[in-house]
Parts: sequence; C-alpha cells; structure tokens
Amino acid sequence: MAPCRIGFVGTGGVAHRHARVLGAMPDVRLVAATDVDRACAAVFAEAHGARVVPDLDALLGEELDAVYLCVPPFAHGELEVAIASAGVALFVEKPLACDRPTAEWVARRISTSGVLTRVGHHWRCADPVQRARKLLDGRRIRLVSGSWLDCTPPAAWWADRARSGGPLVEQAVHVLDLARVLVGEVTEVHAASGGRLPGGVESATGALLCFAGGAVGTFATACVLDGKHRAGLEIVADGIVVGVGEDWLDVRDGEGAHRAEYDAMAARTAVDAAFVAALRGTPVPPERDAPDHAEALRSHRLACALARSAGSGRAEMVR
Ligand SMILES: NC(=O)c1ccc[n+]([C@@H]2O[C@H](COP(=O)([O-])OP(=O)(O)OC[C@H]3O[C@@H](n4cnc5c(N)ncnc54)[C@H](O)[C@@H]3O)[C@@H](O)[C@H]2O)c1
Repeated sequence: MAPCRIGFVGTGGVAHRHARVLGAMPDVRLVAATDVDRACAAVFAEAHGARVVPDLDALLGEELDAVYLCVPPFAHGELEVAIASAGVALFVEKPLACDRPTAEWVARRISTSGVLTRVGHHWRCADPVQRARKLLDGRRIRLVSGSWLDCTPPAAWWADRARSGGPLVEQAVHVLDLARVLVGEVTEVHAASGGRLPGGVESATGALLCFAGGAVGTFATACVLDGKHRAGLEIVADGIVVGVGEDWLDVRDGEGAHRAEYDAMAARTAVDAAFVAALRGTPVPPERDAPDHAEALRSHRLACALARSAGSGRAEMVR
C-alpha cells in the first residue's frame, strides 16, 4: 500500500502534535511543510523529516493526499479554498475562522469541491465523552453548565481579538461542540461580557443558552487566571449529574459520586488515525471520528452567536 502523503501549512504548537502522531504511523509520509515564518517551518521539517517549501503553491505541487492546516484563526479563508480547489483533502484545526462570514464562505467553497475534510474537535472522540453518552442515553436533560476558565495563552495573536476571535470562538468552541454532541442544538443565547483586556478579548463572559430539546444552560469563560482551572460541561438529567471534559468524567447518580481521569492524548491520536483511515476509504465509527467542516461550522456558528451577544448585550438566535 502506498503511504499517505501529507503536508502541513502552519508549523507551530499543534502542528508538531499532529506530526508526532502521524509520524508514528507506518502508512503515512510527512512530505513537506510551509509557514510564513520560515524558521518555524525549518524546525518542524528537521523534527519530523519533512521538506520546507516556500508557500502553498509549492506544497500543492508535492502530489499530496492531504494537508493539515494548523494556522491561527485570522489566517483561514484563502488557504482552505486553494487546497480544496486543488482537490486535496483537509484536516483543519479549530476554530474555522475568527468570524462567521469567512467560515461560511469557506464552507460553500469546500462543499463545491467535494474534498474530504475533518476539523480538530477531538474532544467528541474522547473516552469520557463516550461514557457520558452512555450514561445520559434515554434520560431527559434539564440543565447544562459549561465553562472554560483559563489563562490568556502565550501566542502573540491570541490576545488580539481581531486575530483570534476571542475566548468563545478560539477556546470555548471545544466545549460548545461537546454540548451539541451530548445535549443537542442550541437555539438562542444571551451573553454579557465582564470587560475586555488590552487587545480586545473578553476577560470573562457569562451566558444563558436555550437548547432545542428544552434544556436550559449557562456558559462562562475567563482568561485571567495563571493556568487552566476547568474546561468542560456539567449536565443534569433526571437522577444524574455528568461532568465531562477532554480527559475527565465526574458522575453523581444513585450509586454515589465518582471521578475518573483519562489520557488526553488518546482522543488526539484517534482523530489523526481516523483521518488517515478516511483518506484510505476505511469506515470509522462516527463517535471516534472528528467532524467534517460542515458539521464543525454549526459549532462555530454557536460560538460566534455567543461572541456577538457578549458584544451587544442582546439575545441572539442561533441559525
Ligand atoms: N484541537 C486542539 O486541541 C488545538 C490545540 C492547540 C491549538 N489548536 C488550534 O490550532 C491553531 C494553531 O495553534 P498553534 O498553537 O499551533 O499556533 P502557533 O502560533 O503555535 O502556530 C501557528 C503557525 O501558523 C503560522 N502561520 C500564520 N499564518 C500563516 C499563513 N498564512 N500561512 C502559513 N503559516 C501561517 C505561524 O507562523 C505559526 O508558526 C489555532 O487555531 C488553535 O486554536 C487546536
């Protein structure tokens, strides 16, 4: 079997993580990488045995099966369109963009191209999430409480709201994606901001969420701590509370309360393996696969609605 030929656009932190996972797969070849920061691409290429190429055109000349797009939120748009137009499959890191119009435009162009896509919402593949699905199955969910309480990440672009989209779009979208998976679609949000930091990102936000299935939710973000305090959901259904995040599960039910910790790398590895399987046409169970661009767009729309509502102070319908 010929190896899957994979290229990278953007060679920072998350690109190295994917490359370590992909590099350990016998049927994958990391062919080439490009980055606007050539030195960053050189470090990446040296670490993972790929070649540095000057730009996307050169990368697309490498007869690739897929491109991992690991750029910051502000850089999305033309890159996806060029890759999809070349008929090359795409693994896109979240968020889909800083804003909604860019992501919608990209989605239309990807849909026309018909290329295979996946988006880095690996939390939905995590073992605690599979366990939470089973525990909640058949129960009526009444209340959801979501949060992402953390520091301001060090990347220079993060604190600039025009380049990151802010905490709801850039960080909390992982938890919002999980809320859609475990509870269902959100129809309306009403958020408020606790003030902005230099650069414009919201220091804290609080929001109410209405779910189509009748559950009500709250959602909170803060990026003023010295590290991650909590990121996840607490879901209250009749007779049970399930707390769930990327690598933890808290349950209180008729049998008492218990907490389990999980290896966060398992789901991060699983989505790359699932993407390579999908490239080869091998079926992957949906609960072990990352969402495609069209499905991730629904989570992005929710994050953007919350961010807009936090800015205006008015309720927003999520459409
Ligand atoms: N799914 C996850 O768990 C996860 C984890 C970390 C980061 N991410 C996401 O991945 C994205 C990148 O995060 P990161 O931590 O790797 O950021 P980073 O700043 O470490 O790396 C981004 C790289 O992209 C390069 N870049 C910027 N514009 C470019 C362009 N137009 N063309 C080519 N390269 C360009 C930068 O020079 C930089 O090297 C972010 O959107 C982030 O939210 C996801």
